[in-house]
Amino acid sequence: MKENIVFATHNENKLEEIRNILKGWDVVGLHDIGCHEEIVEDADNLQGNAKIKADFVTNNYHLNCFADDTGLEVEALHGAPGVYSARYAGEGCSYHDNVVKLLDAMRGETNRRARFRTVIALNLNGEQYFFEGIVNGRILEDEHGEGGFGYDPVFQPEGYDETFAEMPMEIKNKISHRGRAVQQLVEFLSTSAWSAH
Ligand code: IMP
Repeated sequence: MKENIVFATHNENKLEEIRNILKGWDVVGLHDIGCHEEIVEDADNLQGNAKIKADFVTNNYHLNCFADDTGLEVEALHGAPGVYSARYAGEGCSYHDNVVKLLDAMRGETNRRARFRTVIALNLNGEQYFFEGIVNGRILEDEHGEGGFGYDPVFQPEGYDETFAEMPMEIKNKISHRGRAVQQLVEFLSTSAWSAH
């Protein structure tokens, strides 16, 4: 029988993506366990927010759970927008508002280096584990491409001539921050490394 694990998200796309990779597990979302509230993510770093979400589920529902948090870290902006990437241009802002604010902040800046970073917190059988995925790249001067979401039109990963918004989703998923963090989680859950605990 497949073991149950909660992915602390309301995002059906993220859930579907994970279900396709974690075939040996029965992955359920917040909705599936009857958790309809927004979990307040008020930590000042990605690891803290991932932990808040995973702990919320484990403490309230007594289930194994993992949660992710992602940020875009721009070197010239001292790591901003970072943990505030979703609401960089203000509470309730759109992805495009964030991109416009970022391009404004970077106008005239020659150091365009940036990275996406995803942290996953996993609560499994009373133990807590963290996984991290990073993709390095640069912020372009303007938007390119229609695909993806968030900051994709202005982020060009190292070693590629296209932005995330211009490349096929399969390629982005393979090299992306989230893809890399998820690969680590999957490797961990697929081995017996954790079962000794
Ligand atoms: P979350 O933690 O996955 O909700 O991501 C927080 C924010 O980071 C999102 O609202 C986006 O603005 C940005 N973000 C996360 N992943 C990506 C990505 O793959 N491409 C572009 N932006 C992203």
